[in-house]
Amino acid sequence: MIKAPEHVLKVNAYVPGKPVEELERELGVRNPVKLASNENPLGPSPLALEAIARAGQSLNRYPDGGGYYLKMALSRRLGIDPGWIILGNGSNELIDIAVRTFMVPGDEAVMAAPSFVVYSMSVGITGGKAVQIPLRDFRHDLPAMHGAVGPKTRMLFIANPNNPTGTINYKAEYDRLFSGIPEDVLVVIDEAYIEYVSHPDYPDSMRYLLEGKNVLILRTFSKIYGLAGLRVGYGISKPGILAQMERVRAPFNTNSIGQAAAIRALEDEAHLAKSRAVNEEGKSLLYRELSAMGMDYVKTEANFIYMRVDDAQALFNALLKAGVIIRPMGGKAVRVTIGLAGENMRFIDALKAVLKTGQPKI
Ligand SMILES: Cc1ncc(COP(=O)(O)O)c(C=O)c1O
Repeated sequence: MIKAPEHVLKVNAYVPGKPVEELERELGVRNPVKLASNENPLGPSPLALEAIARAGQSLNRYPDGGGYYLKMALSRRLGIDPGWIILGNGSNELIDIAVRTFMVPGDEAVMAAPSFVVYSMSVGITGGKAVQIPLRDFRHDLPAMHGAVGPKTRMLFIANPNNPTGTINYKAEYDRLFSGIPEDVLVVIDEAYIEYVSHPDYPDSMRYLLEGKNVLILRTFSKIYGLAGLRVGYGISKPGILAQMERVRAPFNTNSIGQAAAIRALEDEAHLAKSRAVNEEGKSLLYRELSAMGMDYVKTEANFIYMRVDDAQALFNALLKAGVIIRPMGGKAVRVTIGLAGENMRFIDALKAVLKTGQPKI
């Protein structure tokens, strides 16, 4: 039998959820509401949908392996040279490319726990060690993470906002971190939810990059742009860092439909504003209802809410039977994506019904 190396066998495979249609059939529920993956409930911009239909006519051709037009569009939007941008099959792939570019077995990467699960998975597969620092008040404990940087540390991951807690770290905290981080550590700042943030002290990560720090900023079209199914993400960093990552990137890692859709999605300011507004309204409603029920939730800067409960799996199962899909996080917390008004109410009504029965105890 062919056997993968030990460090690969130690990593748990990502467990995908069942397709919604399958749950519908198995549980006999009509129109289940999916609030599990932090997707934009409005869907993609109509401009992106048009571009998708058009791009479909050239599917016999390979995509533009350099993503020329998408990089140009991002460059205009971000006010930086296209040479500072790398494209990925979702930002997920860029995490993996960065780890494979800069780490060898035995190296360490510092990250928060709980945070986005892919960081530790990618590091594990590379034979590296994920040094996980517990959150403090549901936020990255940047001083403790800084303190965990040692001679073997090659990378430090910050999810800002953090998934699953929706919390952010502030400018002053970045200032302190960047004043002392060693030159040979790449700080990856994952900003998958940046477009939802409204807090005035949210840091401008680009500033640190332009000051010459070793930063890789990751963003995505999967969240507010509503294109999760097309897998397009991008990274922003110094050309010297990206040139090394380009050696690891597969030639056609972003597809032609995704590139075309992303360009148009960027232009649709109205859809972006509407998506933000829907999220803010949903957030207010959920805060109000969850507070009234006495639920223990964390204030969010993203499009999901983290709640502490007694038995996450039992609550997940009970809500599933009512046709509401949320995400259990470990034993004692769940994460719920903010949906459309009707979806949020379905969740609240189902939660109320579960609370009434007293089963599970939450
Ligand atoms: C913090 C964070 N980073 C990255 C991603 C990956 O997004 P994608 O690969 O779809 O761009 C996610 C998705 O859930 C996320 O929550």
